[in-house]
Amino acid sequence: MDIRTVDGIVEKYQGKRTALISMLHDIQNQYHHLPEKALRRVALRLKMDFTDIYGVATFYKSFSLTPKGKHSLTLCLGTACHVRGGPKILREVKKLTGIGPGQTTPDRQFSLEVVNCLGVCAIGPVVVMDGKIHGEMTVGKVRRMIGKLKAKESGGRA
Ligand code: FES
Repeated sequence: MDIRTVDGIVEKYQGKRTALISMLHDIQNQYHHLPEKALRRVALRLKMDFTDIYGVATFYKSFSLTPKGKHSLTLCLGTACHVRGGPKILREVKKLTGIGPGQTTPDRQFSLEVVNCLGVCAIGPVVVMDGKIHGEMTVGKVRRMIGKLKAKESGGRA
């Protein structure tokens, strides 16, 4: 973790405490999680207590204190998505990535989360990949999506 990068993010928001959430989002985008050192630096720069920053970081589900994969996969297993085949999608994702919900692949390429409803039940089953919602998911579609990302990451060799 580079202190100057964190300082740059704080300065981007003129060191305003009201921009704390945006700063944390930027730090997470940079490091795929919120390193403790970065949070301590933000606390110092904003003249806030570390515990207050830590509280914000742990309150929001979108923040992670442990390293996440480069690509995030979120599967909905709420009732509507469940009856439309969500569990089959989850089985396929587990097979393709080797990880279960809450885990990150050892090469830090993929992180997997499961949620209960994303509010778009009509297009279920739903998968969110890197923040983009994909509806009417099928085993074939998710296989192609993950395959494409794997191929891209390995420079088209996969
Ligand atoms: S149950 Fe999946 S979006 Fe509502």
